[in-house]
Amino acid sequence: MELIKVTDHYAPAVALIELNRPKELNALNPQLMGELRDSLVRLDKDDTVRAIIITGNERAFAAGADIKQMADKSAIDMLVLDQFSTWDQIRKVKKPIIAAVSGFALGGGCELAMMCDMIVASETAQFGQPEIKIGTIPGAGGTQRLTRAVGKAKAMELILTGRFISAQEAHFYGLAIKVVPVEMYLQEAVTLAKEIAAMSPIAVQLAKEAVNRSFETHLDEGLTLERKNFYLTFASQDQKEGMAAFVEKRKPEFKGK
Ligand code: CAA
Repeated sequence: MELIKVTDHYAPAVALIELNRPKELNALNPQLMGELRDSLVRLDKDDTVRAIIITGNERAFAAGADIKQMADKSAIDMLVLDQFSTWDQIRKVKKPIIAAVSGFALGGGCELAMMCDMIVASETAQFGQPEIKIGTIPGAGGTQRLTRAVGKAKAMELILTGRFISAQEAHFYGLAIKVVPVEMYLQEAVTLAKEIAAMSPIAVQLAKEAVNRSFETHLDEGLTLERKNFYLTFASQDQKEGMAAFVEKRKPEFKGK
């Protein structure tokens, strides 16, 4: 891996992926996205990992897709490059992914953070979809995910003006779950990841699938999937252990079985 750093066991059962093109503010070129996809697919299959954190550095989570590499491309070049198929594979990762965001999360960087399951932000984080300022529009889900996250009017404002919002504003609109001082954002994400990693990984996976489905379907179908996944947890030893531990007033030990 050249453009990301992966620590499989940064904390117990928690993997950390650091985007690592600092000079380019972690601009997301196809190589970086390919490395990210390969690592996520590998970690998704690793039973010793139960939660994943994606982060950048203090100055930038990621300042968007790599403009320099895209600038001269034709529409057909972009079609053939098919860069978003990599993003589609990342979207299928079943394990929980937390974005720990400091500094710029712009364009594709904001879209990558939104593709994660939760965003923990440092006070210095800035979110935005500034593509309009360079004569294009979001291409990695921004028009859809930002609208679902913050509502139509705010999404319109951000996407049509290219304005950035602060971490506090992102928190107010429900984009970030938490804002903490810059020295703490990664630790805060680790604490959250460890809390999730202590749960039954089977229940976590089924819950993530059901929550994500709520964005993609009408209520009736979503409720049917939720119900099936709820019943499915009863086929796991973890559900028996979790409920027995509650009755016996002890801490459960989840084995992912
Ligand atoms: N692509 C390529 N290089 C980038 C980049 C990007 N998205 N963002 C920053 N860089 C590079 C800069 O060109 C600069 O490189 P050089 O030193 O070689 O000139 C370096 O990173 C540092 O950036 P700045 O000097 O510009 O730093 P700054 O602090 O003055 O400004 C910034 C920071 C406001 C983030 C500014 O860099 C900026 O506006 N970046 C572009 C943001 C943007 O438009 N993102 C959307 C991209 S399109 C997209 O993402 C499409 C999609 O939906 C997938």
